[in-house]
Amino acid sequence: MMQANTKQADSGVAQQDSPLLSVNDLRVSFKTDEGMVRAVRGVSFDVHPGETVAIVGESGSGKSVTNLAMMGLVPKPPGNIDGGTAMFAGQNLLTLSQRRLQDIRGRHIAMIFQDPMTALNPLMTIEQQLTEMTRLHLNFTRHEARAHAIEMLGLVGITAPEKRLRDYPHQFSGGMRQRVMVAMALSCEPELLIADEPTTALDVTIQAQIMELLADLQARKGTAIVLITHDLGVVAGVADRVLVMYAGRIIEKADVSSLFAMPRHPYTLGLLGSLPNLESNRDETLKAIPGQPPDMSVPIAGCAFRDRCEYRFDRCQSDDPVLTPRRDALEDGAEDSSMHMAACHAVDVGTENEPR
Ligand SMILES: Nc1ncnc2c1ncn2[C@@H]1O[C@H](COP(=O)(O)OP(=O)(O)OP(=O)(O)O)[C@@H](O)[C@H]1O
Ligand SMILES: [Mg+2]
Repeated sequence: MMQANTKQADSGVAQQDSPLLSVNDLRVSFKTDEGMVRAVRGVSFDVHPGETVAIVGESGSGKSVTNLAMMGLVPKPPGNIDGGTAMFAGQNLLTLSQRRLQDIRGRHIAMIFQDPMTALNPLMTIEQQLTEMTRLHLNFTRHEARAHAIEMLGLVGITAPEKRLRDYPHQFSGGMRQRVMVAMALSCEPELLIADEPTTALDVTIQAQIMELLADLQARKGTAIVLITHDLGVVAGVADRVLVMYAGRIIEKADVSSLFAMPRHPYTLGLLGSLPNLESNRDETLKAIPGQPPDMSVPIAGCAFRDRCEYRFDRCQSDDPVLTPRRDALEDGAEDSSMHMAACHAVDVGTENEPR
């Protein structure tokens, strides 16, 4: 839910529905000159109708590739889906034909891409691109589609939209292209919206306006949102649950309040830095953590984070930690996707173990 104060109750409700999207053990690699880059190494998560799941993590941790894979948009080659499933409405997105995926993309699942030029065709006018989806999926007439395109452009804050329809993407600024992409993604009112850094490159007022639009769609249609962002203020404000990615894995997942109140993975502790104040942290971004993520083109033995970790001990060198419920989460009760989990041998980091 995009409204901060109602999210507790709503996330409880969402948990009772069966998932809209269920990703299980997704693995994606790229064949590069440096070797086989294992970009996504066994990622599993559910998204329920109406909820907002935030994905955070450093650059290169596999956030975009995870979501591109679900949309059938990993370039092959160099990319390859090595395994896993992504179930949506009873179908595995990873094995659907391009033809079937096209029926789903835009209509049922839409993506706001990190790079607007991935989504926009430089050779087509803004009008052609904005009306294509609604004509195809919603059977709009040319006239209806045009009126709708103008409305959508207005909603994302493009001035004099009717005059801009004949323009090509290169005639728009970067921020305007990003907004056109948001308009495209929202135009068929999808059940699942994947938003990959939807507001980077936009100034604060427009950012707020876009987040407002997403919240409005969610409130009206029960849209589920997967939100990739570096902005912890946005996470705290709109997410129900958070997935923290590191080196191609989810290393912590929790309800947003639980994650901020008690981050359990040393990496998450580092990202959050001093715990952000949930009320007034609009400008909080992820903290830089000393050291570098591991080279993803060589197999990683043990924990991928160990070299940067203050809590590491012998076992972390050899033994790859899996995502497990934290002890207090187990004591709390029911096992479901909202349970606080972390992939770390240093159990209950931050409560019992002292950093070395
Ligand atoms: N087309 C490609 N060819 C080769 N490697 C790729 C390709 N796309 C992604 N990768 C690699 O996959 C890994 C994960 O990349 P991804 O784009 O998912 O990171 P990210 O978490 O979205 O980072 P950012 O925060 O910078 O957007 C990186 O090591 C990246 O270099
Ligand atoms: Mg990315």
